[in-house]
Amino acid sequence: MKKVLLISLSLTLAALSSAHAAPPKQPKAAGIESPDYAWDAQSSEETLLLKMKGDVAQGKIAYQGCQGCHKPDASGLPDGTYPQLAGQHTTVLIKQMVDVREGRRDNPKMFPFAGKHVVDTQEVADIAAFLNSLPLPGNNDKGPGSGLVRGKALYEQDCVSCHGERGEGNAEKFYPVTTGQHYRYLVRQIAAIRDGSRRNANPKMVKVVKNYSANDIGAVADYISRIGPPEKAEK
Ligand code: HEC
Ligand code: HEC
Repeated sequence: MKKVLLISLSLTLAALSSAHAAPPKQPKAAGIESPDYAWDAQSSEETLLLKMKGDVAQGKIAYQGCQGCHKPDASGLPDGTYPQLAGQHTTVLIKQMVDVREGRRDNPKMFPFAGKHVVDTQEVADIAAFLNSLPLPGNNDKGPGSGLVRGKALYEQDCVSCHGERGEGNAEKFYPVTTGQHYRYLVRQIAAIRDGSRRNANPKMVKVVKNYSANDIGAVADYISRIGPPEKAEK
């Protein structure tokens, strides 16, 4: 009897200590703050991923670990905490995931669900293929609608050359789709890119938004949030 109790006590203790084992912390890699930062440098995992073929059906299964935050249809949350991922370019999804996995894009909240300890390289390829195959949900959060004339002018002057007439981005160049994205997420990312806290940013974009005021960011994000998807987002 005593022995059984002891065994069960030690099993309970083992279970408790593994339940309380701290999840691995997100690593930190050099980003835009470092003088030798190259925005388009590829780690070995990224190079490999860009050559792999993702499987949509497998990706749907692997994505189950993501949908608590990004939602089953990958529409994210209107309050901008979790971005919409549906229809994003495969290349962009791969770069962003690798940047989180390796610590060029700080995201301690997402890391426990997306790090190499839980998601293997093939699963990253599969998830990217799955997300890219999803239609844009088209119900994104919009801005207040008060600065659209200015927002359009800023967009056409400063953003269209990379993000495209309708926010379709450019798969080959790793420029994200921004059409259909939530207004509050857009605002937060543009500010983070301006301020250097999004450490995997493109320095050319940083230059463009460096002198943007909060009003400028709000206006351009509002315009983007309302462009509406192209016929079919470029893949
Ligand atoms: C605990 C919540 C959470 C989970 C689970 C999660 N993410 Fe995220 N994810 C976030 C947050 C928060 C952001 C935005 C971070 C920021 O503001 O920079 C994000 C951003 C992203 C981005 C960048 C999108 C963009 O437009 O730049 C990608 C890609 C992504 N997540 C993929 C995934 C995948 C794939 C999984 C599952 C393997 C996953 N996430 C699981 C919270 C989560
Ligand atoms: C030189 C090309 C370039 C220009 C010009 C540019 N961007 Fe970007 N933008 C990028 C790239 C590349 C990224 C992704 C960076 C990365 O890899 O993390 C990005 C990311 C973003 C994101 C984050 C998207 C996401 O899914 O997380 C937003 C929002 C954005 N840009 C808006 C703008 C706006 C608004 C302008 C104009 C004021 C602009 N960009 C000008 C290249 C550009």
